[in-house]
Amino acid sequence: MPAYYDKGNAVASLGTCSRWSNTFAAAIAKRMPRGSKVLDVCSGTHDVPLRLLAIDPTLEVHAVDGSPHMTAEGQSRARERNLTIHAQVCDAHVLPFADGSFDAVTLQFASRHLQLVKVLKEIHRVLKPGGIFCHNDMLRPASRIVEAPYLVFLRLSVWFTAKLFGSSADSMKCVGYFANAIRHFYTPHELSELLKEVGFVGTENRSFLTGIMSYHISQKPLDVE
Ligand SMILES: C[S@@+](CC[C@H](N)C(=O)[O-])C[C@H]1O[C@@H](n2cnc3c(N)ncnc32)[C@H](O)[C@@H]1O
Repeated sequence: MPAYYDKGNAVASLGTCSRWSNTFAAAIAKRMPRGSKVLDVCSGTHDVPLRLLAIDPTLEVHAVDGSPHMTAEGQSRARERNLTIHAQVCDAHVLPFADGSFDAVTLQFASRHLQLVKVLKEIHRVLKPGGIFCHNDMLRPASRIVEAPYLVFLRLSVWFTAKLFGSSADSMKCVGYFANAIRHFYTPHELSELLKEVGFVGTENRSFLTGIMSYHISQKPLDVE
């Protein structure tokens, strides 16, 4: 399943997923003093923690995810590399950490599964004042010229992959799900506005093809308790 998931991301991101995630991790690490305390929310197989620790092994990295299977796979990948990631299985909407616990919180490829405003408020709560929130995902492209062919491509590629793997008739009914979820999701600008509403400031946004891949790095203000 994790290998299949990685391939799905590679197709949906037009082959840029892994390189883009490296760019995202480098942008975070650049802002983190050595030994900083980082939490990865919806960590899955620990993609973000492993990339961060590869850049700076002095980081203290925590990870939460709702799936014991994804977490076990992530822990096994960390052990193979002799790295420590402090993992817990829990719901991202109720983070089991005290207020102001982390210098940085990351969230990658999971927002479409969540009640996003509720999770963003939890992330804001567990960040230290001045801490940063780092978000990376496939968003709705801001340009209609990009969006229309991209959604057609997504529908066709998911249909083709499902056929190739002999998916059941019931599964075939869901092939439009991914494209529909992207079509109803935030554009990069809309996500920046949402971050502002939740209380983050100084948002930096970088996007590939107006949002097919897009990361945001925002700060919790220093004067907030
Ligand atoms: C698409 S995967 C992304 C994993 C990882 N962040 C990455 O970049 O590869 C989404 C993850 O979100 C987790 N997830 C979904 N809803 C969740 C929730 N309410 N609480 C915690 N984890 C959740 C799933 O278990 C899954 O591992």
